[in-house]
Amino acid sequence: MKSYKIALIPGDGIGTEVLACSWSVLTEASERFGFRLESQTFPWSCDYYLQNGRMMPDDGIEQLRAFDSIYLGAVGWPARVPDSVSLHGLLLPIRKAFDLYVNSRPHRLLDGVEGPLRAGSFDILCIRENTEGEYSGAGGRVHMATPNEVAVETSVFTRRGVERIIRYGFEMARTRKRRLASVTKSNAQKYSMVFWDEVTDTLAAEYPDVEVTRYHVDAIAARFVTHPQTLDVVVASNLFGDILTDIGAAIQGGLGFAASANLNPEGGVPSMFEPVHGSAPDIAGRGIANPLATIWAGALMLEHLGEASAAQAIVKSIEDVTRQRLVRTPDLGGQATTEEVAQAVIAALAALAV
Ligand code: NAD
Ligand code: IPM
Ligand code: MN
Repeated sequence: MKSYKIALIPGDGIGTEVLACSWSVLTEASERFGFRLESQTFPWSCDYYLQNGRMMPDDGIEQLRAFDSIYLGAVGWPARVPDSVSLHGLLLPIRKAFDLYVNSRPHRLLDGVEGPLRAGSFDILCIRENTEGEYSGAGGRVHMATPNEVAVETSVFTRRGVERIIRYGFEMARTRKRRLASVTKSNAQKYSMVFWDEVTDTLAAEYPDVEVTRYHVDAIAARFVTHPQTLDVVVASNLFGDILTDIGAAIQGGLGFAASANLNPEGGVPSMFEPVHGSAPDIAGRGIANPLATIWAGALMLEHLGEASAAQAIVKSIEDVTRQRLVRTPDLGGQATTEEVAQAVIAALAALAV
């Protein structure tokens, strides 16, 4: 029997709530589809920071390296630990250390969910650069707390980094509608984004079967809302992709639906799967967070591990639950708990003929 080692990092706030019950969905799927999931839980979080003075141990990355995948809830509790400490101490270093340069975020309106646009259909795959760009961490502050203070945050775009993410976008376009939207702000940012446009044009010659359109990020943000059906695969830099994927999530019906796969397509390191959303301090501790984004991220993880049938069954089960409109958390106007939604997905999974 195939067996996979998964590192669980529940993190903070609703991260702990959605990860626990999503893991029970994955466990159920493993039993039905004949593979084993072994897990080890790492308590790395803001609580861990307050006790230990760091978000993870010094050898945290080395500990994770032994796993097939990492399944993460959410990190951050800004009232207790600054985000600049918590995210830069855990989530962002994992993405960088394993060179998880693709952040793949599918946004699809599920059956039974209308979303704010009542769009009928919405199906966009966002490919977000995940290791450099605006998140390079280069910069500094001088003359702090004086009237002359200057803060600089430098975006770093390397040829290797830009080429590989746009190429991945083209490859994904080939698996879908052969339509790629490349996102920049090259009308205002004359170095990095002009460079991005040049790389897009160069690669386009290698993919004559893919229709490429360049968009400015402000214009495509509007297009997500007004003409989403004209978009298919969208490739964007780290920050632009971050922002567009919260818009994508909103159109899907909310942050409780959007899943995220942090991938190193070359393999040899654990990839990481998580919801797009954060720890949601405003609803944490009440057991009412929507777990579907995290369950869906779990399906992306199983697909990545090679368990495509189990992954498809989980997505189908999620959709069986949303279609019935019976078991819904408050973000969808319902009264169900996180746990009840996960149990409904498990019941739907059990009802599928395997
Ligand atoms: P957030 O995504 O946590 O919450 C934004 C809003 O969406 C809130 O009103 C919240 O209640 C709602 N929401 C989010 N997920 C939901 C779910 N599953 N079900 C129902 N409602 C949901 O964003 P934020 O408030 O900007 O960030 C809170 C903390 O999380 C911060 O520390 C932030 O840095 C961190 N964060 C972490 C990650 C991550 O770990 N990947 C992602 C985003 C934000
Ligand atoms: C995400 C989050 C993170 C990001 C934050 C918490 C650093 O918003 O995964 O979308 O910006 O990448
Ligand atoms: Mn984000």
